[in-house]
Amino acid sequence: MNLPGAPFLHRRGSDLWLEDTAVADLAAAYGTPLYAYSRGAMRAALEPYRMALAARPHLVCYAMKANSNLAVLQTFAALGCGFDIVSAGELRRVLAIGGDPARVVFSGVGKTRDEMRFALASGVRCFNVESESELHQLSDVARAERRRAPVSLRVNPDVDPKTHPYISTGLRGNKFGVAHDRAAALYRLAAELPGLEIAGIACHIGSQITDTAPYLEALDRLLDLVEAIDRDGLRLHHIDLGGGLGIRYRDETVPATADWLGAMLARIDTRGHGEREILVEPGRSLVGNAGILVTRALVLKPGAEHDFCIVDAAMNDLMRPALYDAWMGITPVAQRSDPPQLWDVVGPICESGDWLGRARELALREGDLLAVTSAGAYAMAMASNYNSRPRAAEVMVDGSAVHLVRERETVQSLYAGERTIG
Ligand code: LLP
Repeated sequence: MNLPGAPFLHRRGSDLWLEDTAVADLAAAYGTPLYAYSRGAMRAALEPYRMALAARPHLVCYAMKANSNLAVLQTFAALGCGFDIVSAGELRRVLAIGGDPARVVFSGVGKTRDEMRFALASGVRCFNVESESELHQLSDVARAERRRAPVSLRVNPDVDPKTHPYISTGLRGNKFGVAHDRAAALYRLAAELPGLEIAGIACHIGSQITDTAPYLEALDRLLDLVEAIDRDGLRLHHIDLGGGLGIRYRDETVPATADWLGAMLARIDTRGHGEREILVEPGRSLVGNAGILVTRALVLKPGAEHDFCIVDAAMNDLMRPALYDAWMGITPVAQRSDPPQLWDVVGPICESGDWLGRARELALREGDLLAVTSAGAYAMAMASNYNSRPRAAEVMVDGSAVHLVRERETVQSLYAGERTIG
């Protein structure tokens, strides 16, 4: 089976390569644990979005929560992308790379007034508003600044995206979005509030979605609303389809971006909305399979029930297994011909939840390097310093060029803001 991330992640003989760079050389030069990304894979993942949308007004807003490294942002900005942000911090990152705020949509259920002010002053493209209260707050903030804030309502269509409950967001019981049956009334309210200007409508039903059907169901409900709002005489300039398209971690069958987006756009056209600008907010599908986490086996520890391979990466570097019971691929950087055996690949953190993979068939010796695949999204972005572990370095491979795009943290930097007493 192909490695997730192929052809950018591939084998030459028994050795793992990322584009034209041997992964073992990256580990030797930068140490482990190490996040390594393929710039080519990111560009390639964007391509079907660009192709599918080329013939109509559109904006691909990379959901930077998936991986907000400046070099990643720079890569997408250079290809014309905007960004989906969820905090003032993310907006600062966009500004730090010289990104265009007019290509930014600001999502999130809990924006502070300071964040609203800052985003407004920066000139973001649209606020994706998620509650009635937020409409009022944003209008107040905008009025005080003598501006009008462009808004979309993020509608909760109440469809089941059939993904992990922690990353489902479009069900009635979730905290996200405004209820479908309240949306038309809230648009009328938005039209009356003096600090607001209606720009569009938005929807995002969850993440790691592997089926087009719930998307189409949500889209139909969204278009019903667009038509109702039209009948109220209000004009929605754009439709934001959100993100959430899944990737293959193991053996999932995931619709190709072109097929999924093609089906969505066909539905939009059939229902007569083809002239509207389309926004999308992909995160994982642009970067997930463009990255690996390289780690070294420290200790092989046969146990009573499981044999443990203790590696130098841990749940602080990669939360997904501990948090979502997620399966991430683990593959040796240099394959051995020894007979494989089953290993629980775990980190050194003092928690039994600190595992990266269970019962993995691997031929291993102490000191060997392993790569956790599909680690370009929600890996470094969710890393912590638990156990006073400095966050790992990040490198971006571009052909045979390697760029260190984030230095490994130092322990001193972890407590630099702390004070002893007296
Ligand atoms: N737009 C909005 C409003 C979102 O909340 C998200 C993700 C996205 C776009 C991008 O979704 P994507 O295309 O990446 O699926 N930490 C979890 C995923 C959390 C996703 C949160 N929202 C994980 O590791 O699976």
